[in-house]
Amino acid sequence: MGVVGCGLMGSGIAEVCARAGYATVIREVNSDLLARGLERVRASLDTAVSRGKLPEAEREAALGRIKGTTSLADFGDCELVIEAATENVEVKTRTFVELDQVCAPHAILASNTSSIPIVRMASATHRADRVLGMHFMNPVPVMPLIEYVRALTTSDETLEVARRFGETLGKRIIVSKDRAGFIVNFLLIPYLCEAVRMLEQGFATREDIDVGMMLGTSYPMGPLTLLDFVGLDTTLFIADILFDEFKDPRFAAPTLLRQMVIANYLGRKTGRGFYNYERGEKPPSR
Ligand code: CAA
Repeated sequence: MGVVGCGLMGSGIAEVCARAGYATVIREVNSDLLARGLERVRASLDTAVSRGKLPEAEREAALGRIKGTTSLADFGDCELVIEAATENVEVKTRTFVELDQVCAPHAILASNTSSIPIVRMASATHRADRVLGMHFMNPVPVMPLIEYVRALTTSDETLEVARRFGETLGKRIIVSKDRAGFIVNFLLIPYLCEAVRMLEQGFATREDIDVGMMLGTSYPMGPLTLLDFVGLDTTLFIADILFDEFKDPRFAAPTLLRQMVIANYLGRKTGRGFYNYERGEKPPSR
């Protein structure tokens, strides 16, 4: 297994692969980011052990299966590489061109993109039939789903091999065509934008919007809490891609969301979003 990118998603993907028994190489652009990513994996494994989800002995075994690198050249032996680099089409396409050069001809290349059409990356390689989308959900070790994206060029065999692999991670697989938003974000992004519009219009308080969906429809967290969790910048980025693609007002980002991103109120990662975590505010919980 190879994983490109050791951020929030890449480190989670490497963790679930290593926990499932796969020798996993993970690459970051420099050793500082790599060390931080590997630390994230260790911390998540510690949580899994403390929650009784992973036997103590398995923690070291899983860590022992992960090898960090700063060079894509170390992916030469991988059967499958999942790219979880920054959500930028140039960066991703360049990564696929390089992977195509270093990986064995039969290796499958996947992207964890949440929004960029897979055909863009597939077409940059000489193995467009062996490229697909594998969109994991955040937090990767906890969420039981992977959304697969079949590009125009993806072969039946690639999809089948990838499906069997995903099931060995203990995840449920759904398959979408290669259209912006796929299945999950096509439904989730208008819902999140609507919650922001509701707050912007002063229709209800942030707590009542969150509690309404949490207790009224059994969502694990309300939409504004989820926005803080996913990142307002990530949500805005996906909303803009969806709006560009479909020109449908359902996907138009609310002004409040855009302004909060400009102000760096990105959610948990910057200490402030719809809730101010720096000041110790806690979103409503069950
Ligand atoms: N490894 C394994 N299991 C872990 C773990 C880890 N590192 N950390 C936590 N867990 C387990 C816990 O033991 C617990 O299991 P049980 O329910 O069996 O007790 C479970 O995961 C939940 O953990 P917590 O008790 O710590 O937290 P919680 O109950 O408050 O749930 C949450 C936290 C899972 C984040 C939950 O609030 C949730 O599901 N929120 C919604 C998340 C969501 O919607 N994600 C998708 C975002 S959209 C996306 O990702 C796509 C995109 O492109 C934007």
